[in-house]
Amino acid sequence: MGSVIRAENLKLAYEKGKNVIINNASFTIEQGEFVFITGPSGSGKSTLLKSMYGKLRPHSGTLEVGGYNMSKIKRKQLLQLRRNLGIVFQDYKLINEWTVEKNVVLPLIITGYSLDVQRVQAEKLLSHVKLTEHAKKYPLELSGGEQQRVGVARALSKNPFLILADEPTGNLDEFSSGVVWDLLENACDQLNATVLVVTHKIPTIFNIPYRHFIIENGGIYEVH
Ligand SMILES: Nc1ncnc2c1ncn2[C@@H]1O[C@H](COP(=O)(O)OP(=O)(O)OP(=O)(O)O)[C@@H](O)[C@H]1O
Ligand SMILES: [Mg+2]
Repeated sequence: MGSVIRAENLKLAYEKGKNVIINNASFTIEQGEFVFITGPSGSGKSTLLKSMYGKLRPHSGTLEVGGYNMSKIKRKQLLQLRRNLGIVFQDYKLINEWTVEKNVVLPLIITGYSLDVQRVQAEKLLSHVKLTEHAKKYPLELSGGEQQRVGVARALSKNPFLILADEPTGNLDEFSSGVVWDLLENACDQLNATVLVVTHKIPTIFNIPYRHFIIENGGIYEVH
């Protein structure tokens, strides 16, 4: 299999090219790599992730994710791809009418896993993100940081081959951030997931090798 993500002369824009966000970016990311993406507010970090899960089609150039050409991907293929992605959204996107434990296993529910599998996985992940005692609560009964940890747990619930996380620790104190970094490190190191994380601050203690991309003024640069 080729690279997990391959971009060549990728251009991303809203409104049919008027508002160009990313211009002419080329890079490849291999299975099992961990990538931090930093850059100023409004530089296009979330936009880049959106293109990778098919929310925004490339304006021009090439973007391949998990072998799919994101310019041409069909609806059914996109659903298939998304089933195998773990996405952590900047604004969590939890279902407020569902309990925390049900939110965590949403990807398993969609795929039709049994209640037993759901229960085991929910228990394991909630313990990892230190939310066991909140399992039966609803998202709006949790703090912002706790909701964010639910979002991270949900992203990991199906052992995705690719994890796209937008500021997964943006709302967390030091302890909770540590919990989340450990989880993402583990997904990469133990499960060989490819992990892309947008963050404003790369953790000072990080135990596995990583790459660092900076997005600025429409360009994507790798820090070596
Ligand atoms: N749906 C949209 N339609 C048009 N323009 C948009 C849309 N979403 C974002 N933009 C614009 O694209 C640019 C990049 O936005 P993006 O959300 O990718 O930035 P970001 O790097 O994630 O910033 P932050 O660190 O604040 O989250 C901004 O100028 C923003 O106004
Ligand atoms: Mg953003």
